[in-house]
Amino acid sequence: MNVVCVGGGYVGSVTGVSFAALGNKTTVIDINKEKVDLINCGKSPIYEPGLEFLIQQTIGKSLYATTEYHCIAEADVIFIGVETPTAPDGSADLKCVKNAAMSIGENINKNKFTVIINKSTIPTGTGEVVSSIVAEVSGLIPEKDFSVVSNPEFLREGSAIWDVFFPDRIVVGANNQIAKEIMRKLYKPVVTRENYHKLSEQYSNLNWEAPEKIPVFFETDVKTAELIKYASNGFLAVKISYINEMAKLCEKLGTNVLDVAKGMGLDSRIGSRFLEVSSGWQGSCFPKDTSELYLLSEKYESELSIVKAAIDANFAMHRYVVEKIIRFLGCLNGKIIGILGLTFKPNTDDARKTQAEFIIPHLLSLGANIQAFDPQGMEMFKKFNPDLDIKYCDKAEDVAQRADCILLLTHWQEFKNLNWHEMVNSLRFPYILDTRNFLNKQYLEEIGFYYQGLGT
Ligand SMILES: NC(=O)c1ccc[n+]([C@@H]2O[C@H](COP(=O)([O-])OP(=O)(O)OC[C@H]3O[C@@H](n4cnc5c(N)ncnc54)[C@H](O)[C@@H]3O)[C@@H](O)[C@H]2O)c1
Repeated sequence: MNVVCVGGGYVGSVTGVSFAALGNKTTVIDINKEKVDLINCGKSPIYEPGLEFLIQQTIGKSLYATTEYHCIAEADVIFIGVETPTAPDGSADLKCVKNAAMSIGENINKNKFTVIINKSTIPTGTGEVVSSIVAEVSGLIPEKDFSVVSNPEFLREGSAIWDVFFPDRIVVGANNQIAKEIMRKLYKPVVTRENYHKLSEQYSNLNWEAPEKIPVFFETDVKTAELIKYASNGFLAVKISYINEMAKLCEKLGTNVLDVAKGMGLDSRIGSRFLEVSSGWQGSCFPKDTSELYLLSEKYESELSIVKAAIDANFAMHRYVVEKIIRFLGCLNGKIIGILGLTFKPNTDDARKTQAEFIIPHLLSLGANIQAFDPQGMEMFKKFNPDLDIKYCDKAEDVAQRADCILLLTHWQEFKNLNWHEMVNSLRFPYILDTRNFLNKQYLEEIGFYYQGLGT
């Protein structure tokens, strides 16, 4: 098929390269020339394991990148994967989606049926908005000349390529029979894994060990598919907030949240995933999606109070981390806190709306000095938080220099193997708060750290 992805960021670049690797002629359009140039040079526009390798394998063969919209005319399917950030009122800002729809309308082929696929996370009813814009700009008739479908994305940054090739489910919301058939054809290789043995040889260094479970191709109507994405992210946020509040209770009761989570997760109705304690959920999706979902529920006078409670519990968790440090160190004025991890999770450079963005200003407001390190996220964190007074370190060990506390916010695997001996000697006070319960407590205590986790 001829595939176009509008947007070449975390979702668009991964979607584009994956469909190119599956043998479709795929063009990524992005208004950001820098990203387009990177892709065309065989470089990844983001840090995502495996992405650069796949770009190098496909660029110029089945993958193309451009800032121009002319290629839309050739497309059988057009993904929209542009950003949908939070507007000042807390709802999803659809400016980029609407601009993309206008450009699609200006360039769409008037002589063939085209499917426009909303992959961006968009509020229920946005499919109709996109359809009307394309119809108005192009003069074409929706459902006769083109159709807008919803195909929400569930990939996780850090394992995004894997998630596109081996998803749990593919949700397609379509109200049009021809569009449904085109979507089935597009996803057939993923659902049936046809040719995957060839791909796994071709891309052998991706180490594909396919899970046994075949993805479910779930068809529904457009509005329902749009809501499934928000309902899923809202639920996951609730699950994390639940275990985080449980961690606080465990500290009061003298019980261990790791065992509580394990005991809960062994129940197949509950499952163990997303029962990992942290300083709270953040990132480029959960905050904006829970905000939009809650506002939507209020708008329709059907309040999702549980989502609101999860949001409140989440901010309380960020504050709890700071309170815990204060309980241990006392007044923070003039104290030095070394932060490990600025991204919302490991294996990504995505530092948009991370835990650190909330916790660091709180620490600074109490007079603390901050020195921080992240393996991939420092540039982006600086870009989004230019006014925060932070000393960025060249290597992880340097956050310990004369510090009174090390605060681990992101569980990058490499943090396990730091030179902890050197660090304990550089500290003014050997206190470490590991908000992911990730490091080797016994070892750290043996070498002289006072170690605290959360809920343990
Ligand atoms: N990042 C994730 O893990 C993830 C997962 C699932 C769903 N989503 C959703 O996918 C959407 C995209 O998220 P993202 O993280 O990839 O965003 P992103 O900011 O990384 O990428 C969006 C890209 O779209 C480009 N763009 C904006 N307007 C454009 C236009 N008119 N024409 C062409 N390009 C345009 C931007 O330059 C940018 O490169 C959002 O709705 C998000 O909620 C993201």
